[in-house]
Amino acid sequence: MCGIVGYVGPAQPSTRPLDVVLEGLARLEYRGYDSAGVAVVGPAGLQIAKKAGRLENLRSLLAENPLPDAVSAIGHTRWATHGGPTDINAHPHRSFDGRVAVVHNGIIENYPQLAAELAERGIAPVSQTDTEIAAHQLALEVAKDNDLLAAMCRLASRLEGSFTLVAVDRESPFEIVAARRNSPLVVGLGEGENFLGSDVAAFVGQTRHAMELGQDQVVRITPERVDVVNFAGEAAQGKPFEVDWDVNAAVKGGYDTFMDKEIHEAPHAVSETLRGRTTPEGNLKLDEMRIDEAILRSIDKIIVVACGTAAYAGHVAKYAIEHWCRIPVEVELAHEFRYRDPVVNEKTLVVAISQSGETMDTLMAIRHAREQGSKVLAIVNTHGSTIARESDAVLYTHAGPEVAVASTKAFIAQITATYLLGLYLAELRGNKYVDEVATYLEELGKMPHRIEQVLDHEDEVRALARSMKDATSVLFLGRHVGYPVAMEGALKLKELAYIHAEGFAAGELKHGPIALIEENLPVFVIVPTPRRPLLHAKVISNLQEVRARGARTIAIAEEGDTEAGGYADTVFWVPRTTPTLMMPLVTVVPLQIFASELAKAKGYDVDKPRNLAKSVTVE
Ligand code: G6P
Repeated sequence: MCGIVGYVGPAQPSTRPLDVVLEGLARLEYRGYDSAGVAVVGPAGLQIAKKAGRLENLRSLLAENPLPDAVSAIGHTRWATHGGPTDINAHPHRSFDGRVAVVHNGIIENYPQLAAELAERGIAPVSQTDTEIAAHQLALEVAKDNDLLAAMCRLASRLEGSFTLVAVDRESPFEIVAARRNSPLVVGLGEGENFLGSDVAAFVGQTRHAMELGQDQVVRITPERVDVVNFAGEAAQGKPFEVDWDVNAAVKGGYDTFMDKEIHEAPHAVSETLRGRTTPEGNLKLDEMRIDEAILRSIDKIIVVACGTAAYAGHVAKYAIEHWCRIPVEVELAHEFRYRDPVVNEKTLVVAISQSGETMDTLMAIRHAREQGSKVLAIVNTHGSTIARESDAVLYTHAGPEVAVASTKAFIAQITATYLLGLYLAELRGNKYVDEVATYLEELGKMPHRIEQVLDHEDEVRALARSMKDATSVLFLGRHVGYPVAMEGALKLKELAYIHAEGFAAGELKHGPIALIEENLPVFVIVPTPRRPLLHAKVISNLQEVRARGARTIAIAEEGDTEAGGYADTVFWVPRTTPTLMMPLVTVVPLQIFASELAKAKGYDVDKPRNLAKSVTVE
């Protein structure tokens, strides 16, 4: 899950290649941030600078030891897989003869065999990485015919595993060659210059014209050309597209952290996800549902596969889709799915939810599902991502780039998209009439404003978070759609504030978790609407039970809920939503703000929590 940038430009050497690459790395740092490095190529040959730690460390190194002007450059920000996060293990890696340098994202599974071959020739690696082995092997290949593209094709054909491998050649400064398998890479198309990136954020400040690459393809960029071939060296095609993300969308825009910015972008994320998906008459229109309607009518089961926050969006979706469509919905962590021999066939619709579209666990799950004959629908935020490309249909969430590692607006957009899917299926399969669907859509259309109303009270949530900065454990209880919200609230706190936190189904309290309750333990309770009296009464009882045992109770409740107001020590109000299935879109917001502020109060890096990465492209 590293970040990769490449640039090749005009004949006159300058600092631009390095500047562009550093700017791209800054935008990609969310993909990994345990070391960073660059290589530049120009009249002074091939020069490398790399440093463990954040990008600032590399910048300081470059300030002390500037690199010469160049015509091309590659850069890398790393999330370690093979070899610890040290200077030596940082990318780029140079070949034994000094001729080529490579950066890599992924894992080369057969690197021990490739390393053994090198050992026979007396070539010993200096780092602990699989990447360095690829650099040496590439140098051996390019020495055969001085053709970097052909050399990369030959090397890529021999590699097993997942990789985006990008190389520069000292002997050929005006070209960069890259290969990809199961790992992301996009091309940015400029005028007299071209770019490479792990995603479009790498070059969005430079160009809006981009090109997706297919699986097992190799690309060569020069200042004037982009050539795409397959691993056999035969001509292939990339797929051009226009980047619709705003240049400013990738910067913090006045907020302390990307996470705060992104929490505030949730209303926009919902409206963007809804945009263009209704007719002027207010009816649902999902042009992207490119799965045969006859197949969608015949499915007898839906399995949602996802990881982390996206999986909780799937749990919320289950309540809505089962209720609206009367189809059984299972939610499965993607990494468990493939290995338990799940019952999937052509009557199963697999729905993959992923912000990045690159989560390897989810990708592997959908491949398995398709092998079994299931259709796969992806709900993805990142255009051109691998999961989007490998699915039968894609419903994009249009939440815009999410940079903070902890997902916020994307979660809310994912729920919105799954609701669109549920309504689409309900109408198609005759479970709901067109006008009923239109009514739900109208309600969904009101959600951006309701989220704004919750955000208007963020100061109160932040004040509570600061007052709880010394808490060592926090529990979250919810029922019905409040249950996944409780789990998501706990996950946010674990991810950001490194506090032990658990989300429980409120009904399960009496079966075990109640033993955890002690004096002053903070317990959040997501209270369902009083308009569902049975459900509401049970959760209010749970609130009383934990309070009676000394817990400090914080309720997230609907405005006007006098009982919640009476039993909780603190209440955060959310506006009334109709139907109650919409509640997660508002109830999760205070929990996101709470986790962000508590982490800040503890002095932690909210956007880049320790040990985590935004896009987990290894299994
Ligand atoms: C990582 C991130 C989580 C995210 C999960 C799924 O674990 O740290 O925040 O929820 O991946 O990511 P995806 O891109 O597939 O939604």
